[in-house]
Amino acid sequence: MPDPATTTGAPSSYRSVPVSFVRRSRRLSDAQQRLWDEQRRRYLVDVPRAAASTSVEASFVLDLGAVPPGTGPLVVEIGSGQGDAVVAAAAAHPGVRYVAVEVYEPGLAHTARQAAEAGVENLRLVQANAPEVLASALPEASVDELWVFFPDPWRKSRHTKRRLVDEAFLPLASRVLVDGGVLRFASDWQPYAEQVRDLLEAAPGFVRHGETRPDGWAPRFEGRVLTGFERKGTAAGRVVHDLAYARRPRR
Ligand SMILES: C[S@@+](CC[C@H](N)C(=O)[O-])C[C@H]1O[C@@H](n2cnc3c(N)ncnc32)[C@H](O)[C@@H]1O
Repeated sequence: MPDPATTTGAPSSYRSVPVSFVRRSRRLSDAQQRLWDEQRRRYLVDVPRAAASTSVEASFVLDLGAVPPGTGPLVVEIGSGQGDAVVAAAAAHPGVRYVAVEVYEPGLAHTARQAAEAGVENLRLVQANAPEVLASALPEASVDELWVFFPDPWRKSRHTKRRLVDEAFLPLASRVLVDGGVLRFASDWQPYAEQVRDLLEAAPGFVRHGETRPDGWAPRFEGRVLTGFERKGTAAGRVVHDLAYARRPRR
């Protein structure tokens, strides 16, 4: 079987590191496409690209003075999938601003449809490879909470290098989080959850947040709604682990 690290996502001539997603070919139906064409104007941020279609031009910086509208705290969800968590949160907390970063267009279209149905205004969508968004598109010290829920587990050992949250991810998260800002993570794949917990425990820039237990696991984040991924994991007998670590203050 070909290795997706070299045959999917962006061609290696576009990016020097493997990406954490594969290109999926599911297309929107004509009706879904018409709806998405309307709603993308309302929710989708226009991102200038570098070489790959989900890349971000390095000089691009989101204007957080205007996007999303408002002045409240900013929560960014990475790999928002169908948008269940971020839309529920945005509807419940109209004073908080939300940005959902996702590469998968049908997921974004579904998120926009849910948001429109809920009358949500405090949410914007970014279709892009998340590490690039964290590296330059989000201003430094601009994010109050960064959420990563059920990232693709990349279970096979030859694929673990494609996991989104790794050593290279933490400095990017640290760059965008405000002092005391919180990185929240959840996974039903124990080896991945343990990997991320161990990385955060060892990271000098992060400290346990809230009611994190001595073993490093946090209580289930109450702002995390039950999604299909969690339901599937639980049905298969897997345990979901939550993590919550705060960024240490800059000096
Ligand atoms: C397993 S799904 C989980 C979706 C959602 N968080 C949930 O709990 O239902 C992981 C999602 O992350 C997205 N993703 C993976 N790598 C990404 C990246 N580098 N940038 C943006 N999105 C990414 C995938 O397209 C997919 O929708």
